[in-house]
Amino acid sequence: MDRRLFLQGLSASAVAAGVLPVTAAAAEAQERSEADVAKQIAASKDSSPVRIGIIGPGSRGKELVRNLLRVPGVKIAAAADVYEPRFAQLNELCGYEVAAHKDFRALIDRKDLDAIVVATPLGLHATQVLPALKSGRHVYGEKTMAYTVEEARAIREASGSKALYQVGHQYRYSPWIRAAIARVQAGEIGDVTHIAGYWFRNNDWRRPVPADDPGGKLEHLINWRLYNQWSLGLIAELGSHHMDIANWIFGANPTAAMGSGSICRYHDGRETDDNVQVVLSYPQGKRFIFTSTTDNAKMGDQLWVYGSKGSLNLTLEDATFFYEPAKVKRVATGVEKGVTTSASYQAGGEMPYRGPGKPVELKDPEDATTIAIRAFIHCVRTGDRPIADAEVGYGSALCVVQADKARRERREVEVPA
Ligand SMILES: NC(=O)c1ccc[n+]([C@@H]2O[C@H](COP(=O)([O-])OP(=O)(O)OC[C@H]3O[C@@H](n4cnc5c(N)ncnc54)[C@H](O)[C@@H]3O)[C@@H](O)[C@H]2O)c1
Repeated sequence: MDRRLFLQGLSASAVAAGVLPVTAAAAEAQERSEADVAKQIAASKDSSPVRIGIIGPGSRGKELVRNLLRVPGVKIAAAADVYEPRFAQLNELCGYEVAAHKDFRALIDRKDLDAIVVATPLGLHATQVLPALKSGRHVYGEKTMAYTVEEARAIREASGSKALYQVGHQYRYSPWIRAAIARVQAGEIGDVTHIAGYWFRNNDWRRPVPADDPGGKLEHLINWRLYNQWSLGLIAELGSHHMDIANWIFGANPTAAMGSGSICRYHDGRETDDNVQVVLSYPQGKRFIFTSTTDNAKMGDQLWVYGSKGSLNLTLEDATFFYEPAKVKRVATGVEKGVTTSASYQAGGEMPYRGPGKPVELKDPEDATTIAIRAFIHCVRTGDRPIADAEVGYGSALCVVQADKARRERREVEVPA
C-alpha cells in the first residue's frame, strides 16, 4: 500500500497520541513480536558452521571480526583489502590464516562463503554490497548504507529473504536504547515533537599516514573520511546513527532536510567540513536537529528526545529520563518581588530544570555491536529478517544523502520516499 495512503487511513488521534506508528514500514516493524526480537538478540545454542568473508578489515572491520569470533560456529574464511598490512593484522586477530584477496570480486566469486561483511569507506559500499547480495550471500554492510539515494534503493531492492541485508546501525540492538524507546513509544514523556543530537569531539579526525606515501595515495586510503570521493563527512560518519534513532522514534522518514557546515578549525587540505548542522523535518511538523563539531567535546555524543511530559537523554552508555516540572500558573498582572508582572513575564524565569534524572536500569547490558553481530548470525542461520534491515538502512541513508545535499546547496531539499 502507498505510504501516504496508509497514513491517511490511520486514525489521526492515535497517531498524535503516539500510539500508532506513522509509516507502513514502522507499522510492519511494530507487528514483529517482541518474542521474535528477543530470539534474535539472545545467545543461541546453535553452533552450526557459518563461513564469513570480510571486505575491508580496517578499524571497524576488525571490531566486527572480534565480535564475529565470539559467536560459536563462525569462521572468518576470507578477506579482501587493497592495503596489504590488513591481512597480517587479521590473521593475528583470528589466530589462523585467513585467505587473502587483493580484489574484492575474487572474494565474492568464492563458493565457500555463507555471508559477507562490508566495512570499507562509504563511497565503495554499493559497489561491493550489490554484487555480494546478487551472488546470493547475506550481507552485513556498515553504515551509511550507500553514498547516493539511487544506490541505497538498489541495495534495498537486491536484498530479500534469500540474501538478507543488515546495516551497521548497532544502536537498534542497544539494550538501554531499546528499553528507553519502548517507554517513549508507550507515552512515558508524552507527545515527542523534537529530538536534538549532539556529537562533539575535540580532535582533528586525522589518522597517521606512513611517511613514504608517493602521490598521496595512502593519505586518501587512510584518511578517506576527509575526502568527498569516499565520504559524506560528519553527517554520515556520526549523524547517521542519530538520524536512524530519530526515524525509529518518530516512526517515519523525514520529508525535508536543511544543512550547513564549514571548515572552521582544520585548514589542512581536507574537503569535508569540520563542523555541520542539520535540520530534518518529519510529518506533523516534528523536527530532528543535529550538530557536530570537532574542536570542543563538552557535549560528547548525546541525543535529547523532547516530549510534552518529559525528556530522554540517550548516550553511548546509558539512557536517562527527566520529567517536566508541574506547569506554573501564570499570574495575569500583579507584583512579584517588587516587579510589576504581566502574562508574559514571571519572576520564576525560564531556568533549565536540573536534577539527577531517572536512569533506565539494566543489569550488565551488553555492547550493542556484540548483540548486532550475534543477531546477524542468527538471521543467517534461520533466514529471519534482521531488525536493522534494508528498510532501516535506506531510511538513514536518505537522511544523510539529502542533508549533505542541503549542506552543499545551502537550501532546503526534499527527502524522497
Ligand atoms: N557502526 C559503527 O559504529 C561504525 C564505526 C566506525 C566505522 N564505521 C563504518 O565502517 C566503515 C569503515 O570505517 P573504518 O573506520 O573501519 O575505515 P578504515 O579505513 O579503518 O577501514 C576501511 C578498510 O577498507 C579498505 N579498503 C579501501 N578500499 C578498498 C577496496 N577497494 N577494496 C577492499 N578494501 C578496501 C581499507 O584499506 C581499510 O582496510 C565506514 O563505512 C564507517 O562509516 C561504522
